[in-house]
Amino acid sequence: MTTQDALKKQAAEKAVEYLESGMVVGLGSGSTATFAIHAIARLMKEGKLKDIVGIPSSTPTEEVARSLGIPLVGFEEQAVIDVTIDGADEVDPDLNLIKGGGGALLREKVVAQATKKNIIIVDESKISDKLGTIFALPVEVVPFATAAETRYLESLGAKVTVRQNQLGKAFKTDNHNRILDADFGPMDDAVKIGAALSQRAGVVEHGLFLGTTALVIVAGADGIREMKA
Ligand code: A5P
Repeated sequence: MTTQDALKKQAAEKAVEYLESGMVVGLGSGSTATFAIHAIARLMKEGKLKDIVGIPSSTPTEEVARSLGIPLVGFEEQAVIDVTIDGADEVDPDLNLIKGGGGALLREKVVAQATKKNIIIVDESKISDKLGTIFALPVEVVPFATAAETRYLESLGAKVTVRQNQLGKAFKTDNHNRILDADFGPMDDAVKIGAALSQRAGVVEHGLFLGTTALVIVAGADGIREMKA
């Protein structure tokens, strides 16, 4: 395991301490969240967590959770999620986030907005003073609008890349959309950018998670620290 993976795992192990038997748990996406899913499955097997049901935030997460025997439900069965544990690509001092490095930002945001307590787990490389410093903003767009939204994002000052998959083809999200990675550099006003994207036809969702997070667990060389809202 790499040093970074070891830190991700430490943050995940700390986060599952916040879970209690009987909870509805939002299951995040990405490598850090996957460590948490494994930890949840282990605690369930050990009998330390009982009657847990999960709501997955992506198809890969659904597959991992199923393979580990975590019972899954949808929003048809559960309206409210008690705790969601998810990763992030960048975190600022006010607990605002950039997410969507894995392309799951839409379902992750739906899960986050249904959640009472969102816990974000990261290694220290994800922390920055201003969002956009270390990660380009993923923006999910309908395929039809890809070129139009690329130009729109450029007009807002971003350098834009249409995300590709490992085969060099256009990346397709769980919802059959495209991802534009919009590099704004450090954002002076993330709220303004988020608002502009939210009202734009063709943009399905963007990866700015502003004001949704209750707790960030950061694992670093000096140990674990918590950032609270
Ligand atoms: C998935 O779309 C993302 O939002 C992930 O939560 C984010 O990319 C963090 O992923 P890692 O834990 O793999 O760094």
